[in-house]
Amino acid sequence: MTASTAAQAAYVVAALLFILSLAGLSRHETSRSGVVYGIAGMAIALAATIGLASRSIAATGMGLLVAAMVVGAGIGLWRARRVEMTGMPELIAILHSFVGLAAVLVGWNGYLDVEAKGAGQHEIASDLLRIHHAEVFVGVFIGAVTFTGSIIAFLKLSARIRSSPLMLPGRNLLNLGALAAFAGLTVAFVVSPNVGLLVAVTAVALALGLHLVASIGGGDMPVVVSMLNSYSGWAAAASGFLLDNNLLIVTGALVGSSGAYLSYIMCTAMNRSFLSVIAGGFGVETGPADTTDYGEHREIDASGTAKLLKDARSVVITPGYGMAVAQAQYPVADLTRRLRDMGVEVRFGIHPVAGRLPGHMNVLLAEAKVPYDIVLEMDEINDDLAATTVVLVIGANDTVNPAAVDDPGSPIAGMPVLRVWEAENVVVFKRSMNPGYAGVQNPLFFRDNSQMLFGDAKERVEDILRAL
Ligand code: TAP
Repeated sequence: MTASTAAQAAYVVAALLFILSLAGLSRHETSRSGVVYGIAGMAIALAATIGLASRSIAATGMGLLVAAMVVGAGIGLWRARRVEMTGMPELIAILHSFVGLAAVLVGWNGYLDVEAKGAGQHEIASDLLRIHHAEVFVGVFIGAVTFTGSIIAFLKLSARIRSSPLMLPGRNLLNLGALAAFAGLTVAFVVSPNVGLLVAVTAVALALGLHLVASIGGGDMPVVVSMLNSYSGWAAAASGFLLDNNLLIVTGALVGSSGAYLSYIMCTAMNRSFLSVIAGGFGVETGPADTTDYGEHREIDASGTAKLLKDARSVVITPGYGMAVAQAQYPVADLTRRLRDMGVEVRFGIHPVAGRLPGHMNVLLAEAKVPYDIVLEMDEINDDLAATTVVLVIGANDTVNPAAVDDPGSPIAGMPVLRVWEAENVVVFKRSMNPGYAGVQNPLFFRDNSQMLFGDAKERVEDILRAL
């Protein structure tokens, strides 16, 4: 068996491991094994690629390659160990920017390499050369959009720049114009490649990535991160074609399609179209202020809540973004254990877009060792809420808003929500009467069976634990 055949065989094994990894990551019970498959696939992919490269690279080149890998792995390990759950989206965003930059560099290298060898001297048959030019262009374009888009996403998510959407006049036309320019430049480059066109497409794509993501509000950023994840996959696949690396093509396609599918799932769960997210501007006040009289809200304190819980038959906890902000998952897990020990049935109801990234609540609850079997999806718990004694809404707002069901004029009308108001009692943990991410008032707070427990969610849950 030649080294090249061995490498191709290793690539097939790595590709299968990546598919198993994605399958594992789709359920929390199997997510750990999903991560292990991913690590194993990547280790095999790296070993095979280095083995293959070692045949054509001099010893100094190999030394540099290993040194770069050691430094890269060191930085990766250090960042991954330090990152907080709430900082995960921004870390992912900055990592995507590296994939984008790599695709731009591979694209430029692909062009310069062919140029350097001169007409007729390169290994690519002349009739395939035009396809090669197109691959260079597409790779550089997607890579550059991913690069600047991800940097802006990183800056917004880490609050280094304002997260409100940049609303330039005619912003959609600007984006469409950039796409039209890309199409025109691609045709010109395929017909007659030159470095000027490559510089032009790189500049257009860098500007498009910057503008595209700058126009999107901070709250929509998780969809954008998953969209950039998809772009980074396609950029890697384009690099795979240029480098003639089958594994990179397969892996890029897996990342590209899974990122696109995840964006689609998030948009469906928010009842938004993908295009409306891209068009940006969500959450910006446009209509008249909400002057509806919702009536008075009632308040409850921690000991009152403890009493409700002690007498309850069944309790459902619906966490949201506020639980992540307050880092309340540990006392929430303690409360769950305590109530279960007292014979109260406790379950969790997780909305698909609760929090700010997919699976946000599931990860927090798993971190605090809440058993998986009591953590249910929205569709699994919704029909049981009417028979529930107490629902604790911990730092959630939009995901439990009855206006989504009752008010066709609401900005979140049609968004599937947890029907917590059907329960006997609802206790809402938040710090104020401020609206949630979508900026709309929540009539739940004024329902007869609802009571507000004001304050930081972590402190209030700890107070309840003490009162119990
Ligand atoms: P939100 O509607 O964002 O509401 C969170 C609530 O938590 C706020 O009303 C806030 O009220 C409260 N809060 C904040 N810090 C708190 C603290 N320390 N202690 C107690 N309460 C605190 O949350 P949600 O119900 O999870 O909904 C998520 C929203 O994000 C949805 O609109 C969704 O469409 C959007 N979104 C989600 C995703 C993903 S993938 N998850 C992606 C894009 C957009 P106070 O300020 O009064 O405390």
